[in-house]
Amino acid sequence: MIPRRGGGRLHTLIHKLSKLNEASRAMTRCHDLAQLLDTILALVDDVFDIDTCAVLLLDDDGQYLRIERSRGYDADVVATFESPVGRGVTGQVALNGKPTFVVDVRDRADYVGGVRGAVSEIAAPMRIDGAIIGVLDAETCKPIVFDEADLEVFASFADHAAVAVQNARLHEKLARRTMQLERQVKRLELLGAAAEAMSSTLNLDELLLRILELSKRALRFEHCAVLLFNGTEGTLKVRASIGYDESVQRLEIPVGRGVTGEVARTGKPLLVADVHKSEHYIRGVIGGRCEMTAPLIANGVTLGVLDAESPRPGAFTEADLDLFATFALHAATALSNAETYRALEEANTKLHRNVIEIERMNRELLEHARVISDTNAKLEHRVNELLTLQEASKAITSSLDLDDTLDAIVGMTRSIIHSSMSAIKLVDEETEEVRVRGHVEEDDMLEGHTMLGVPLRIGDRTIGSFEVSRGDASGFSDEERRLIETLASQAAIAIENARLFENTQRTYFETIRSLAQALEARDSYTKGHSERVMRYSVQTAEAMGIQEEERRLICHAALLHDIGKIGIADAVLNKSGVLSAEDRHVIEHHPIWGDSIIGPIRMLERVQTLVRHHHERYDGGGYPDKLAGEAIPLGARVIAVADAFDAMTSNRPYRAALPLAEAVKEMRRGSGTQFDPDVVEAFLTVLESSGLVHMTAKAVEEALEPPVSARRPMIKSR
Ligand SMILES: [Fe+2]
Repeated sequence: MIPRRGGGRLHTLIHKLSKLNEASRAMTRCHDLAQLLDTILALVDDVFDIDTCAVLLLDDDGQYLRIERSRGYDADVVATFESPVGRGVTGQVALNGKPTFVVDVRDRADYVGGVRGAVSEIAAPMRIDGAIIGVLDAETCKPIVFDEADLEVFASFADHAAVAVQNARLHEKLARRTMQLERQVKRLELLGAAAEAMSSTLNLDELLLRILELSKRALRFEHCAVLLFNGTEGTLKVRASIGYDESVQRLEIPVGRGVTGEVARTGKPLLVADVHKSEHYIRGVIGGRCEMTAPLIANGVTLGVLDAESPRPGAFTEADLDLFATFALHAATALSNAETYRALEEANTKLHRNVIEIERMNRELLEHARVISDTNAKLEHRVNELLTLQEASKAITSSLDLDDTLDAIVGMTRSIIHSSMSAIKLVDEETEEVRVRGHVEEDDMLEGHTMLGVPLRIGDRTIGSFEVSRGDASGFSDEERRLIETLASQAAIAIENARLFENTQRTYFETIRSLAQALEARDSYTKGHSERVMRYSVQTAEAMGIQEEERRLICHAALLHDIGKIGIADAVLNKSGVLSAEDRHVIEHHPIWGDSIIGPIRMLERVQTLVRHHHERYDGGGYPDKLAGEAIPLGARVIAVADAFDAMTSNRPYRAALPLAEAVKEMRRGSGTQFDPDVVEAFLTVLESSGLVHMTAKAVEEALEPPVSARRPMIKSR
């Protein structure tokens, strides 16, 4: 309290100014608003004789004054005090900006009570650049305490308080901004580090651990976990964690339950300062109190949540949550990339496995194709072998002639086997001599040649052997051996058939020939006639260049040409006188009877024709069918010449034999009328070359006696 006396008044003023100066210095040292206002209020209390003092600041709307800082007030008053601008002492000061003091507030009807028993009050506006921001107010329970000088000093304190408030506010603003910038820098540093760390790996497990470590380092929490959706079951499962024991891995949280489940459901970050007070809380493993959870969302799809816990309530701030959520976004993108990479890797692995499988299948297919190809080649080879055998069989069995059959077997074997030698050795059934057919050269028996002999068997009987050789030591393959054995088997059958057929034909032919000879034996005049006609005919045919096949027919037909006479009575046949018309008719019928006798023998079909026409004349005057010229079979024309010549040169009961020269003349005379001129010409050439023309009839007969070998039948039939 300052005494109010004359000399003391100056001293009081100096004291007040000194305190004011102290307040100014305090403002330059302190930037904490509360502390500064406390200092100012303490100085005011020290300078003035008051009971309470306070700094009241206008609210943001400038409508009310509220106590910012006070000294001597009850706490409940400080908390609830509110004074409208314009009302009461402080309200008036805030409205008009004029410092004022009231000697006795009880005289003021608009007094707003704040201090019980207050009498005097002093108040001054707090201005910054002319604008009122609040009021400095002081009260006392004693009457008439303040004067104008007090008011002036008080107003100075108010100005100082205003400046202090402004400085503090600026400082707070700067501090807040600095903190924001620091947080921003930290956030950028963290996100940069996170992006770098996350992009450095595509391994999901490794990535999850990095996410957790980075989160922990940035936000200083003890427990953190990544929970991901568990397939399509609608639950969250802990995929990675730090600060928890292994039991956390067994947790399975339904979507919508607990803090993490709620975030997974809504897709929005959530901060729970104290989980004990949260409806979403599920008691966790470590008994955390503060929890913050951010969704892991990539490309609009929620993958799971990032969760952090602290045992301290209120450990995390909204700013932490904001950073945590941003971090979760980056983490989700990295997770999505890792998942995409994993899916690609899996697809690649599958693809690689498929490629390997396809390659393996291709190898198997190739192997199968090779086996099939080999089998086909073998089958084709076998088919060719069978076709060859079929052809060989056809060729071998196409003839019933033994020599032709043997030649076919030998030739076919050489062609199929490519042998240098192929021969058949047959044992003659009658003489037991070995008969060799085929081409055998001495070289074939030389050392170094490969030889294969196969017996020719009919049942238990060996009829010969089949021998094949090759001009090198390469030998014969199993297939070739099989082929040769098959050929030999077929050859044996063909040979046997040909032999049987030959025997049958020979027997039959010999029977007919015997009949012809028996016929001729009835008459000494015609003895040997058929044999001679056969000789003449064959030689003439050769001279005419007629092929062997045709010559065989001519040979047989010549032997049998008069077989029809077997049905003519000897009286007619050997009649010495002139023949009656009836006799002639009978005689001229003998070619038809001959035709009939031979007719049943299919193999003598063509022989039969020659027998029928051997009495036709070249000019058409013959019998039995009066054929002429080329219409008469050539063989028949040849036999006609030979028959006529032998008849002329033989004795007959009705005439003597003509001399050869005469007979030749007769032949020439009949050329072109009775006989084919070409045949006559050839026949005479044969006569001339053989010297028969100059022989006696007996000599001719002896000369024409056929050798034994020529008596073998020359039947060829197919
Ligand atoms: Fe005749």
